[in-house]
Amino acid sequence: MSLRVRDLHVGYATARVLNGVEFDIADGQSVALLGRNGMGKTTLVRALCGLRPPAVVSGSIEYDGVDICRMPVHRISRAGIALVPQGRRVFGSLTTLENLNVVSRRRAADSDDPWTIERVFDFFPRLAERSGSMARSLSGGEQQMLAIGRALMTNPSLLIMDEPSEGLAPSVLDVIQDRLAGLRSSGLAVLIAEQNVDLALDIADHVLVIDDSGTIAWSGLPEALRGDESLLERHLSI
Ligand SMILES: Nc1ncnc2c1ncn2[C@@H]1O[C@H](COP(=O)(O)OP(=O)(O)OP(=O)(O)O)[C@@H](O)[C@H]1O
Ligand SMILES: [Mg+2]
Repeated sequence: MSLRVRDLHVGYATARVLNGVEFDIADGQSVALLGRNGMGKTTLVRALCGLRPPAVVSGSIEYDGVDICRMPVHRISRAGIALVPQGRRVFGSLTTLENLNVVSRRRAADSDDPWTIERVFDFFPRLAERSGSMARSLSGGEQQMLAIGRALMTNPSLLIMDEPSEGLAPSVLDVIQDRLAGLRSSGLAVLIAEQNVDLALDIADHVLVIDDSGTIAWSGLPEALRGDESLLERHLSI
């Protein structure tokens, strides 16, 4: 898997948000996308997944050498990109099990160790306990586990997560952080948009910071960002 984004311009009817975003994700790489509120993290991940709005104005998004910029969302999913959306977006009136079963699993045949319901339940034992419960009755943390499990059921080669830590209690955060570290060491490529800098830096090999110019204002190693107080303050209000 490889993702290559070049000179990407993305916006809405009312405003241009991204103005020339460029970055790469290599096979197995774990990349954090940081930036304050409203800088365009969600806009970027939605554009990568083919979700509209926003609209891609110009630029290229290559996945395994294929331009996916104008591909419909289901084909991008089939190509191996899965999104855990901001706010989780599980199907509230379906059970935990049903949420996992509705996912298209076409890619399972291509992977040597495909994700199954059993494997998701082993990965998040809490979901097995809540298997028959309506998703809307799950806690925020359980819903986040379900959203991640649902994305894994598509057998992605790139897992994109949009603020998975948002609104979670610290105890649940620890579980999520541990599981994300597990995914990273399994060799799955990950792009994680976060405001929680500690969590993001903990699981990232590489960091991108997006700012109000709509471009990647800083790109580098987690250690370098951790040590740069003025950068943290300027871009992340820390
Ligand atoms: N559907 C929309 N229509 C018009 N403008 C939008 C839409 N969604 C987002 N925007 C605008 O695009 C800009 C970037 O928003 P975006 O949601 O991508 O930021 P973000 O970095 O994900 O923020 P947060 O950390 O709060 O999730 C903001 O100015 C926002 O108001
Ligand atoms: Mg967002």
